[in-house]
Amino acid sequence: MAFPPQFLDEIRNRVSLSELIGRRTKLVKKGREFSGLCPFHNEKTPSFTVNEEKGFYHCFGCGAHGDQVEFVKQTEGLNFREAIERLADMAGMQMPVERPQERARREKSATLHEVMEAAAQWYTAQLSTQSGLHARQYLENRQMNLEAQKFFRLGFAPNSRTALKEAMLSRKIPEALLLEAGLIIKPDDGRDTYDRFRDRLMFPITDARGRVIAFGGRALGDAPAKYLNSPDTPLFHKGRVLYNMANARPKAFDAGQILVAEGYMDVIALASFGFEHAVAPLGTAVTEEQLQILWKMAPEPVLCLDGDAAGIRAAGRAAERALPLLKPGHSLRFVLLPDGQDPDDLLKSQGAQAMQDLLAQAKPLSDLLWERELEGRALETPEQKAALEASLGQVVAQIQDGTVQNYYQRYFKNRLWEWGRQSRQSYSGFKKSDKKANQNKRFANQSGFNGQKRQLRSSNPQRGGDGRGGDLLVLTVINHPKILENEFDEFAALRLTSPALDRVHRAIIEIASSESDLDEEGLKHHLNQRGFSQQIGELEKSAQGDLDWFAGKDAAFEDARQGWRHLLARRKRKLLQDEVELAEKLLGEDLTSENLDRLKMAQKALREAEGNEADLDGYGVASGRSSGF
Ligand code: UTP
Ligand code: MN
Repeated sequence: MAFPPQFLDEIRNRVSLSELIGRRTKLVKKGREFSGLCPFHNEKTPSFTVNEEKGFYHCFGCGAHGDQVEFVKQTEGLNFREAIERLADMAGMQMPVERPQERARREKSATLHEVMEAAAQWYTAQLSTQSGLHARQYLENRQMNLEAQKFFRLGFAPNSRTALKEAMLSRKIPEALLLEAGLIIKPDDGRDTYDRFRDRLMFPITDARGRVIAFGGRALGDAPAKYLNSPDTPLFHKGRVLYNMANARPKAFDAGQILVAEGYMDVIALASFGFEHAVAPLGTAVTEEQLQILWKMAPEPVLCLDGDAAGIRAAGRAAERALPLLKPGHSLRFVLLPDGQDPDDLLKSQGAQAMQDLLAQAKPLSDLLWERELEGRALETPEQKAALEASLGQVVAQIQDGTVQNYYQRYFKNRLWEWGRQSRQSYSGFKKSDKKANQNKRFANQSGFNGQKRQLRSSNPQRGGDGRGGDLLVLTVINHPKILENEFDEFAALRLTSPALDRVHRAIIEIASSESDLDEEGLKHHLNQRGFSQQIGELEKSAQGDLDWFAGKDAAFEDARQGWRHLLARRKRKLLQDEVELAEKLLGEDLTSENLDRLKMAQKALREAEGNEADLDGYGVASGRSSGF
């Protein structure tokens, strides 16, 4: 059930954080904070702090972080509700009364969870029995080590119509629940129910919290379907779940990346080779819901697709699905494995480094889309070229976010221009390099991509020079990281051309994605650890103009945020103004309906941006100034 926020606040107010934690580790008061040895990792010198005022603990060693509820969850292995019960008990508070339907729903799903857990345990036990011998041999042939088998809780469904059903009935689990859990099947003709999974290797599928909610079963003999999955049940909706999500999520935060493979075996192989931040959809193309889950784990999920026709189709489907959902900073990357291999094959034949190399060259969504449009087209006549431009326009039109749409438009325009220049050069007698000849083949230039991108960046005058605006935007966030609570996406979407500034920017994004409740001190600590202290000093020095005060640490938070928003709005407006000017120029040169649409769109985006501009009422007052600008 959802707890009323006042109830949760009351618990946090009543249970002293330092007392709660003090029961597990000795805390010493130091100024406004307590410090001690971290209860979450082994250490000899204290790097664990408790801030009673702000209501959180933080370990600078292992990154453990949270409030009372989190502490109880972590140290006692309880779920959220159980942790709340425990804390309410300590605080002498009554749990709020649950409505009867809510209670019924909770209890029912608790029992279904129990059924799934019982089945998972039974399947794993079967894997060690005599009848599981061929399944064990199969795993050995596929070089899956015991550790991985245990970690992923692999099991075996024997070749029997009712073995699971009988085992579960003997544990007093009612048949109706087995049916509801999708573990048995009831034939339409009224005959008896029977086990859904027979003679299959079993992969338990868990929810975000690690509870078993479904199974995937791989055929060991010649069954018609290689994999069979649980049907949708009250616990399981296959479009909303990703295999291995519970384990991959914390690893994805650490890595700043999430990998998406096609199959269970791929995820397991990836994890065994050190890529623990990998998940897979369940036999379908990635759904919108799965994309949204992925974007909560990392800004640019990397889809690792089998190098066959199906993999290429899957890349295309994922790209199309992503377009309307793109947001500043949120995108996808693609790795298509060579020679029809899947990640499992590649890792076993060539090892982790080969995978790492491919990941380092993952192709951005924008490149994939460009190459898809180019593929198989004749581009000789003006009409053919116009058709390419029109269909790129259709791709762009699917993007809902105005800013992203704008950048895509420029990007395709640049590529068209580059492409036109290259073909002109090659016609006028320049020798094409192999790389260039390959450029239009999808994925052929995976390795050539990085150089290409750099070249485009630096030859693009629109992106040149962040000016002081970029410095100030970053510095304000360093001094007032709370800005990120509401503006994270905007911040992440900033494109900074100075490589040094871009590095700080990316470091901040990484830190903020893994730390909650970052304050100025915490952020600076992390940045210093990553070697940015000198650069921060320089940023501070460069921002001492009369109008820059809001970026400093003495500015009140409200003013810092408002100044920041204002600066950002100005920056965006400048980009949009450039686009309007460009569109006007193009229309002047060539009066087509496309150019007219482009101008209208640019003008509309500019009007919207002007409408959204930061409200400057009261700016500066909180910092004791009468007027900010
Ligand atoms: P693949 O055919 O690529 O299988 O299907 P795989 O994961 O490489 O498996 P191995 O290596 O042959 O054992 C990818 C995923 O598609 C789903 C499964 O989720 C599988 O992991 N799938 C595949 C099905 O649901 N049903 C099928 O019949 C086949
Ligand atoms: Mn495979």
